[in-house]
Amino acid sequence: MTTTTTTTRPAPPLPEDLTAVLKRMRLPYLRAAAPEVLATARAQRWDPAEVLRVLLAEEVRGRDEATKAMRRKTAGLPAGKTFASWREHDSSIPVPTQSALATLEWVGRAENLAISGPSGTGKTHFVEALAHKVIDAGMRVAWFTLESLTAAIGKATVDGSVAKTIARITRAELIVIDDIGMLPSGQAAAEAFYRVVDAAYERRSLAVTSNLHPSGFDTIMPKTLATAAVDRLLHHAHVIVTEGTSLRLTEATAGKGVVPLT
Ligand SMILES: Nc1ncnc2c1ncn2[C@@H]1O[C@H](COP(=O)(O)OP(=O)(O)OP(=O)(O)O)[C@@H](O)[C@H]1O
Ligand SMILES: [Mg+2]
Repeated sequence: MTTTTTTTRPAPPLPEDLTAVLKRMRLPYLRAAAPEVLATARAQRWDPAEVLRVLLAEEVRGRDEATKAMRRKTAGLPAGKTFASWREHDSSIPVPTQSALATLEWVGRAENLAISGPSGTGKTHFVEALAHKVIDAGMRVAWFTLESLTAAIGKATVDGSVAKTIARITRAELIVIDDIGMLPSGQAAAEAFYRVVDAAYERRSLAVTSNLHPSGFDTIMPKTLATAAVDRLLHHAHVIVTEGTSLRLTEATAGKGVVPLT
């Protein structure tokens, strides 16, 4: 397919045998880039080593991108919110704290993050933005709500694969449990929470958000499990309390929550 607006001719396709061997070797990104790269290399008389370097770099780039896209998909992040739409000054989290967390150094140290505060104060948005950053940095994220985590562990209990499920979850460098509390949760939720906190303890980072401070989790969960889980959770944790009125409410009352009907 050629366009009439460009004067450059399309690069000649690769010889068929070369295409075949690149397919066999599973080098799709190298194969896609090769016609252009080879044409440029010919025109500019590149050193052969440079050709090899550029082609292989293209394959590495393509694979890394594909891995990230796959990880973003399997992470199950909720709404696609990133730092691009985050207004740091509208958050009650001190900006230096936001910046320090955004470096992700705490994830490298397997430290935890606990954010509690009223509804609509940006807890989920902030953690999701961090989670996207973690994936961009080449790491994995597993995103749950307490409900979805309870369901996942419950399902694994039925088919006897709890250990496997926990191992899979803790492959992620950052495990998020968004939205703990509001509704009292029972024994199953407390067990699921405890299992993940225990498995991640000093190995993986855990981020939890809640309307309740973690020290109050024993009011919504069976006390023994909640206490043991919170003890591990808070041992190496950055604890942040958000405050203020709901940004949802502010936007809604200012008429900014919807696109006006015509
Ligand atoms: N600092 C901010 N910059 C941009 N948008 C924000 C900010 N804080 C909150 N919002 C927006 O306000 C809405 C509510 O935020 P969010 O869902 O993160 O709240 P929450 O604290 O998780 O509330 P809940 O406890 O009800 O789950 C979202 O649409 C979010 O994008
Ligand atoms: Mg939330």
